[in-house]
Amino acid sequence: MEGYELIMKGKRTGVWLIGALGSISTTVITGAVSLRRKLIPPGGMVTSTEAFEGLGLVDTGDLVFGGCDVREGSLVEAARHVLRETSADPRILGEIEEDLREVEQNIRTGTTRNCGEAIERLACFPAAHRHVREEIEGIRECLRHFKSSHSLSELVVVNLASTEPPLALMDCHSDIDSFEAALDRSDVDAVRASTIYAYAAIQEGCPYINFTPSSGALLPAVIQLAERKGVPVMGNDGKTGETLVKSALAPMFVSRNLEVLSWQGFNILGNMDGRVLDHPDNQESKIKTKDRVLSKILGYTPHSRVRIDFVPSLDDQKTAWDFIHFRGFLGAKMSLQFIWQGYDSILAAPLVLDLVRLAEFAKSRGESGLMPHLASYFKAPVGVEEYSLHEQFRMLMKYVKRVKEE
Ligand SMILES: NC(=O)c1ccc[n+]([C@@H]2O[C@H](COP(=O)([O-])OP(=O)(O)OC[C@H]3O[C@@H](n4cnc5c(N)ncnc54)[C@H](O)[C@@H]3O)[C@@H](O)[C@H]2O)c1
Repeated sequence: MEGYELIMKGKRTGVWLIGALGSISTTVITGAVSLRRKLIPPGGMVTSTEAFEGLGLVDTGDLVFGGCDVREGSLVEAARHVLRETSADPRILGEIEEDLREVEQNIRTGTTRNCGEAIERLACFPAAHRHVREEIEGIRECLRHFKSSHSLSELVVVNLASTEPPLALMDCHSDIDSFEAALDRSDVDAVRASTIYAYAAIQEGCPYINFTPSSGALLPAVIQLAERKGVPVMGNDGKTGETLVKSALAPMFVSRNLEVLSWQGFNILGNMDGRVLDHPDNQESKIKTKDRVLSKILGYTPHSRVRIDFVPSLDDQKTAWDFIHFRGFLGAKMSLQFIWQGYDSILAAPLVLDLVRLAEFAKSRGESGLMPHLASYFKAPVGVEEYSLHEQFRMLMKYVKRVKEE
């Protein structure tokens, strides 16, 4: 079989996945190399639709993958697990095994700095006690080495690591100068691992995507740094399942002047993400990003509760049951219920590939700071007040139209 590097063509864009051995990362890499070998269609990728033709987005097959994790493991075994659990064609693995082994060579050890016990328990090394600046330099060196050893013209960094507990905003987070001072004095309470990764990526000029709900990543000071350095960034928390449906359905109640009285959501999942989210500190981050959608769309806050429970036997298959109680004419109370069942990583991976292509594109156009046109991809899009899926999608289409006209 030809080497992964040898058959590269076009732009050499690297993708650095934080949490490289996780379920979404494995599915992203498995999907991208399968697409390059034309083993699968690009289903689920928005950027493979007609509207994006002619933009000159980097080819998915031309992406070079690397990344870091805090666990040891085999990407091939992780891919075997994903393919088995999602009932995909197991023959795919035989075709891409060599590609996966090459990517495996590009996976380095990350940091668990201030990530909390649920994540520290996963790690194959004890929690670090180095100066924060040293840890940042270690990550920057990994990015530089990956970029130079593969002759990459661009490197996009995507956070796909386990969800951290929320990081409360501190004074030093409000501007980059105060934040730099906090880093100089190694103020470990002011950062989590996600902060270190985001800061390191931006300092290296790498477009950065936070697909997780971890609030430590895109702090105001970090966004300011991205603006100064001419680096596009966006997050938080990929919108793949229950919240995707919620942001599509809630505008319907507004349009029909139906008052939502209660919206209860109950999620069950069994993968490692579910195990980490079972810890109350980590779950708080996820519930925060899921919670704000309704009040932003409806303009008021109905009674609402989101629950997430870990059910190991479900593995990557997530089920969400939502019960919506609403009031109409003559005050009559009615209800709508939906059940969403999907493979979490299968839903997320094509969106990650879209985001990589669009982030690389934004950088090539000289865009910097937040990318509000990518709001439809996130549960809690940073810096965007629009939460309706349809309006967010319109923002993306408007952007595509504008850049085509330019
Ligand atoms: N699947 C979805 O639909 C979806 C949607 C939105 C957001 N997310 C978020 O995406 C993230 C990844 O999801 P997943 O299902 O792949 O989870 P996963 O548990 O399968 O993978 C996470 C990986 O990150 C690694 N990790 C943990 N802390 C790390 C650190 N500090 N540095 C480097 N690696 C670290 C873990 O070892 C693991 O391999 C989670 O935060 C999840 O909440 C998932």
